[in-house]
Amino acid sequence: MKIAVLPGDGIGPEIIQVALDVMKVVCEKFGHELQYEYGICGASAIDKVGDPYPDETHELCMKSDAVLFGAVGDPKFDNNPLAKVRPEQGLLAMRKKLGLYANIRPITTFESLIHKSPLRAELIKGADFMCIRELTGGLYFGRPQGRSEDGNTAYDTCVYMRNEITRIVTLAYEYAMKRRKKLTVIDKANVLATSRLWREVAKEIAPEYPEVETEYMFVDNAAMRIIQWPTSFDVMVTENMFGDILTDEGSVVTGSMGLLPSASIGTHTSVFEPIHGSWPQAAGQNIANPLAAILSAAMMFEYSFGMEREANLIRKAVDASINANIRTQDIQMEGQKAYGTSETGEWIVKYIQSELVSKEKKS
Ligand code: IPM
Ligand code: MG
Repeated sequence: MKIAVLPGDGIGPEIIQVALDVMKVVCEKFGHELQYEYGICGASAIDKVGDPYPDETHELCMKSDAVLFGAVGDPKFDNNPLAKVRPEQGLLAMRKKLGLYANIRPITTFESLIHKSPLRAELIKGADFMCIRELTGGLYFGRPQGRSEDGNTAYDTCVYMRNEITRIVTLAYEYAMKRRKKLTVIDKANVLATSRLWREVAKEIAPEYPEVETEYMFVDNAAMRIIQWPTSFDVMVTENMFGDILTDEGSVVTGSMGLLPSASIGTHTSVFEPIHGSWPQAAGQNIANPLAAILSAAMMFEYSFGMEREANLIRKAVDASINANIRTQDIQMEGQKAYGTSETGEWIVKYIQSELVSKEKKS
């Protein structure tokens, strides 16, 4: 297993260190050979070489089997609208160059964290859905984009081609087949031409998956339904910009934002990253929750290497740590001791070590 490790900015390096430690112990126990190499990206890469996704980093990703990615972003760029290069451009360049056309975010509830949700417990209990967001098209990449000469008009272009829609909708159906066989296609077909093409293409593909119940929904309605009735979703698929918004909404309804992993897959190497950002205010303080990064590593084992046992062991260890109250401050209960990023990681590493030892004894 050749892994490119891109810690990025803010809390990225701390949480990725923990995820890597977990990967190491899993590989040791299951007898896999883990090779990894670090690459720079984001604000830290701008500071070093003036480019948020330098060529060397891209080459490293291309020759690797999978990428473990932390987070990018730094307030010094957010607060400077005149900055010529931004950390986020590195992320977009990576998506485009690696052909990462699908961003997959499983949204699950953790029983013991339900009280952290802004929604009432009975609404979200059992919510478990997956958002599949198109990642290399639409408004993010459509051209022309820019300003008129007098500076008073600005424009972005939303473009989708039939083949881009076909591949993402097909992928979504494949995931629906592996889950509860329900797919919600989210668009704004009552207003947008691109959305009408989305719906047309989805309607052509639907008959190929007769077992899957297909539902079409306008994005504004979907935004409402995610908070009103989150358990009604299984797999949802949508275009880039709608997906950006809905996945943030989805991630907070379960109360476990700090725990949610994601995978971006496409034509080259896949990228695995926590969905939370770089949280620069917490950088270097050993307080960030490493669980989303650890669960991203679990997704990597499963998606890139077909190693389900390994992935499940990691998930089990994460569950165990929460149940044992080894929690960082964001998910700790009031009045209880919060654990640090590295302490949480150490506990999980030990758990994985001992778990396998006891299994070996039994067999
Ligand atoms: C995400 C982020 C990115 C996006 C930003 C950082 C460019 O919000 O991955 O959802 O908008 O795609
Ligand atoms: Mg986003």
